[in-house]
Amino acid sequence: MLHQPVMLDVVSAALQLQPNGIYLDATFGRGGHAQAILHKLGPEGRLLAIDRDPEAIRYARQKLAGEHRFTIHHGCFDMLQQFCEEQGVAGCVNGVLMDLGVSSPQLDDADRGFSFQFDGPLDMRMDNSGGLTAAQWLAAAGEQEIADVLWRYGEERYSRRIARAIVGQRGHTPIETTRQLADLIAAASPSRDRHKHPATRCFQAIRIFINRELDSLEHGLEQAVSVLTQGGRLVVISFHSLEDRIVKRFMRQQARGRVLPRGLPVTGDAVGQTLRVVGKAVRASPGELAGNPRARSAVLRVAERIQ
Ligand SMILES: C[S@@+](CC[C@H](N)C(=O)[O-])C[C@H]1O[C@@H](n2cnc3c(N)ncnc32)[C@H](O)[C@@H]1O
Repeated sequence: MLHQPVMLDVVSAALQLQPNGIYLDATFGRGGHAQAILHKLGPEGRLLAIDRDPEAIRYARQKLAGEHRFTIHHGCFDMLQQFCEEQGVAGCVNGVLMDLGVSSPQLDDADRGFSFQFDGPLDMRMDNSGGLTAAQWLAAAGEQEIADVLWRYGEERYSRRIARAIVGQRGHTPIETTRQLADLIAAASPSRDRHKHPATRCFQAIRIFINRELDSLEHGLEQAVSVLTQGGRLVVISFHSLEDRIVKRFMRQQARGRVLPRGLPVTGDAVGQTLRVVGKAVRASPGELAGNPRARSAVLRVAERIQ
């Protein structure tokens, strides 16, 4: 399935696109947002992009070949400051977009191993050019470590039972496919949520862990602030509460600055305030949800660089 960019108009408005501006799409995916940004840029505007998935990079290089305003980098967005420095735009960026999580093509490709709805190798790496696959991790991790990951990143209430079942099964049969893991989780879960497959939370948890998604997000947010120019916008779309909590806290902390003892005669930059929160969290409209169910859990937050 093609990736449908989420809240496209809201993103464009939140970035306050200027024809000569410099923008960074830190999660290129299939370039839905990127192409909308390019469309609004003039000949002097620039769009930098990042994605950790080699497929996304291949797609970008093909789709946007000859687009002189566009430069893409293969890597994690926790290196975005270095990328901007190399491009000579650190401190001059007018807007950074992070549209977190996985894209539809990643989810729909059985060989990537992200989805329990298709049978495929249990991989789950966004960057499949290196690092441990989910199968390799599950083959080696201790029972307690597996339970902790399922609980921490999936809030899976049967985390211990499921971890025990994984360690029990791998003793005689290696767990190498998405179907094997999904069936095992379903069998180890004593009760069912009618609206969710029993493996939903565990697949989310393992994916977050394998890709170090929350650590990368924390570092990426800090670096995004450091590359923005005054008045530049940070726009983040998250798809589950763990991500959104990090984004919300980060924006609030940066807007509040360091807490100093009462009575000190300091305000503004003296307490390290770097952002102003712009409006409230935004969700997709009913019209968008009707055409793109993936937008259901999306939460968009915006902040502006203030110094
Ligand atoms: C939801 S999709 C983005 C879709 C994109 N906005 C579009 O309109 O096509 C998320 C993309 O971000 C990438 N990604 C996720 N976390 C990343 C990270 N920490 N660093 C770089 N890329 C990341 C994924 O590989 C995926 O391609």
